[in-house]
Amino acid sequence: MKVLATRRYPGPAFDELGEVEIRPLAELDGERPDVEALIVANEPVPLELLPNLRIVANYSVGYDRIDVAACTERGIVVTNTPGVLDAATADLAFALLLAVRRRVVEGDRLVRSGGWSGSWAEGWLAEEVAGSTLGIVGLGRIGSAVARRARGFDLRILYTQRTQVETDLAGFRPLDELLAEADLVTLHVPLTPETRGLIDARRLALLRDGACLVNTARGEVVDEPALVAELRSGRIRAGLDVFAHEPNVPPELLGLDNVVLTPHLGSATRQAREAMTRLVVDNLLAVARGEPPLTPVAPGR
Ligand code: DGY
Repeated sequence: MKVLATRRYPGPAFDELGEVEIRPLAELDGERPDVEALIVANEPVPLELLPNLRIVANYSVGYDRIDVAACTERGIVVTNTPGVLDAATADLAFALLLAVRRRVVEGDRLVRSGGWSGSWAEGWLAEEVAGSTLGIVGLGRIGSAVARRARGFDLRILYTQRTQVETDLAGFRPLDELLAEADLVTLHVPLTPETRGLIDARRLALLRDGACLVNTARGEVVDEPALVAELRSGRIRAGLDVFAHEPNVPPELLGLDNVVLTPHLGSATRQAREAMTRLVVDNLLAVARGEPPLTPVAPGR
C-alpha cells in the first residue's frame, strides 16, 4: 500500500512500512496524492484530496478530530491506539495530582528564584493526599489505572460515568455529587458531543474550596473560559495537560500559582509512543493483507 504519514512516528516498527511519504497534511495544498493509507495523530483528514484511501491509522486513542462517519461512508477503515498508553497517561494524571496538591511546582519556582528564606515550619503548607477523596470522571482503561494507583496512596475513590459498573475499585456517584464530594477530580472521558463542555461553569462551582481538578483527557471537556475564571479567583487548583486550542494556552493561566501546566504529555513515554507506532503499523499491515484491523473505530462510539 502507498502510505502517507504526517510525520515519522517513533520506534522501530515504523520502518516495517518500507517506503512512506512523510508530509504534514497542510502541505498538500490542493494536491491529490495517490495514497491508500494515511497515518495521522488525531488530525482532520481531507478526504476530498485522498480518493484512493483505504485506511486512516490514527496515532492516538482519541479520534475526536477525525470524521469517522464520513470515512465509514466511503468504506475507509479508521483505527486508533487503545490500551498501550493507559499506564503512561494514568502516571501523568497522578503526577499532576500530586504536584498540584503538594505545591511542587510552586516550590520549584521559589527555590529557583532565590526566594527560599530557609524557614520551613509554617511555610508552604498543603493539604495531605492520603485520606482525601478522589473523584474519577470516566472509569475506562485509563480511569481504572488511576484508581489502582490511588489505592496505594490511601485515597478514598469515587467514580462517575454514564453507565454504572460492578467494581471494587471505586464507589459510584452521579457526576454532580462526585464533584461536590471529591477533594481531587481527574477527567478520563473521550471528547464526544456529550462530553464537550461537560465540566461547565455550574459544575465548576460545585467543586469544594481548595479542590484540585486534573485534566489529561481533552481541553474541550471543560468550559475553558469558566475554568480560567475559577482559577483566577483562587478558589480551586488545577493540573492541566490538555487545552481547548492546543498549542495555545489561555494567557491568564501563565501567571497563576494554583495551576500546573504541561504540554499534552499524557502518552509521552518512549514505551507508550513506540507501542502506539507498533499498533498503527499492525493495523495498517492487516488491512494491506485484506484482514480485519486490530483496533477499528466505529462511528458514533
Ligand atoms: C491520545 O492518544 O488520545 C492522546 O491524547 C495522545 O497523546
